[in-house]
Amino acid sequence: MNTGKWSSILATLVGILCLICSSFSEPAPYHTFAKDATAAPPLVFYDYIIVGGGTSGCALAATLSQGGRVLLLERGGLPYDDPNVMDIKGFGATLANTSPSSPSQLFISTDGVINHRARVLGGGTALNAGFYSRASTDYVSRMGWDQRAVNESYEWVENKVVFEPEVGAWQSAVRSGLLEAGQFPYNGFTYDHVKGTKVGGTTFDGSGYRHTAADLLEYAHPPNITLYLQAIVEQILFKTEKLPRPRAHGVLFLDPSGNRHLAFLNRGWANEIILSAGALGSPQLLMLSGIGPTGHLRTHGIKVLLDQPMVGQGMADNPMNAIVVPSRRPVETSLIQIVGITQFGSYVESASGPVAFNWVHGLNQQYHKPLS
Ligand SMILES: *[C@@H]1O[C@H](CO)[C@@H](O)[C@H](O)[C@H]1NC(C)=O
Ligand SMILES: *[C@@H]1O[C@H](CO)[C@@H](O)[C@H](O)[C@H]1NC(C)=O
Repeated sequence: MNTGKWSSILATLVGILCLICSSFSEPAPYHTFAKDATAAPPLVFYDYIIVGGGTSGCALAATLSQGGRVLLLERGGLPYDDPNVMDIKGFGATLANTSPSSPSQLFISTDGVINHRARVLGGGTALNAGFYSRASTDYVSRMGWDQRAVNESYEWVENKVVFEPEVGAWQSAVRSGLLEAGQFPYNGFTYDHVKGTKVGGTTFDGSGYRHTAADLLEYAHPPNITLYLQAIVEQILFKTEKLPRPRAHGVLFLDPSGNRHLAFLNRGWANEIILSAGALGSPQLLMLSGIGPTGHLRTHGIKVLLDQPMVGQGMADNPMNAIVVPSRRPVETSLIQIVGITQFGSYVESASGPVAFNWVHGLNQQYHKPLS
């Protein structure tokens, strides 16, 4: 047998397979527009300055770059550089990583609930369990949004980052369990938020590879966008002179070498600064910039530009009650695919796999305090 020929055929096959792999998960052409913040000039001008490259910041940056010059500032790095972020099997390991450079930042709310915030391009979509659902049409009309525009936006997102899951043994058992418990009707696979039991969308593809809001930058017009990574915005700069209210016109950001940079709007009030730094980051940054409750700002020696008593107040999250069922035998790794949406508004969902359990176990050991 001519082994030489076989090996060249094999090499070709492997080559073709690799080509397929790389085009399947090809990220946006980041090399053209993503830079470490140390590469930023001391002073830059843009039409839009977006603070925070999370779930909304990435989507906005992609859209706005179609009609103007966009600066996107993100305090973390690229999700593609972190194998734990990108692989479904790394879900627990990412959350359990409490190092200063971790893409996940652990915090405990004042009422004692353990949670995580993202420090990576893509934001929460780079850390969460990847379950995807549309809002109910009811919710959209209550918000006064244009249902058609909302649907187009959903499709824009779904085309890039959402998949129909391959439902394995564990999630099938969850589906049967919910139906046995009377969680009807069975709605099959749907993105719609409907009562009963359903298979939802997932941001993990068939290979367990995670897709995040960072992938939405594939829609961006590369020449019109600059993304600085490891850029910590310290302050939004406001003009106050001869104005009834302060107006944002620039931001001050810090790079990893400790150098500060200024970014200003090109055309003043015709442009915009967009604050999309998350539920914690956005109010924090407003307060650091002088917008918030006067008393609180004064305690920290911050000059008050505008008294806004509600900034940073009234934060709430959905409470989660988790039941951990240990298994003697290994179970498949699955995150949320099947969900029960109950009549009374609670959601029942389930994850399986060794890593998720280790993470729960670790958190329990680290934070469990005996009730006194
Ligand atoms: C890039 O931004 C400019 C504004 O600076 C805008 O006029 C142009 O339409 C944008 N380019 C594209 C292809 O959208
Ligand atoms: C939007 O999509 C939902 C399904 O997600 C559908 O029920 C609704 O009729 C659509 N509305 C419009 C205006 O297209």
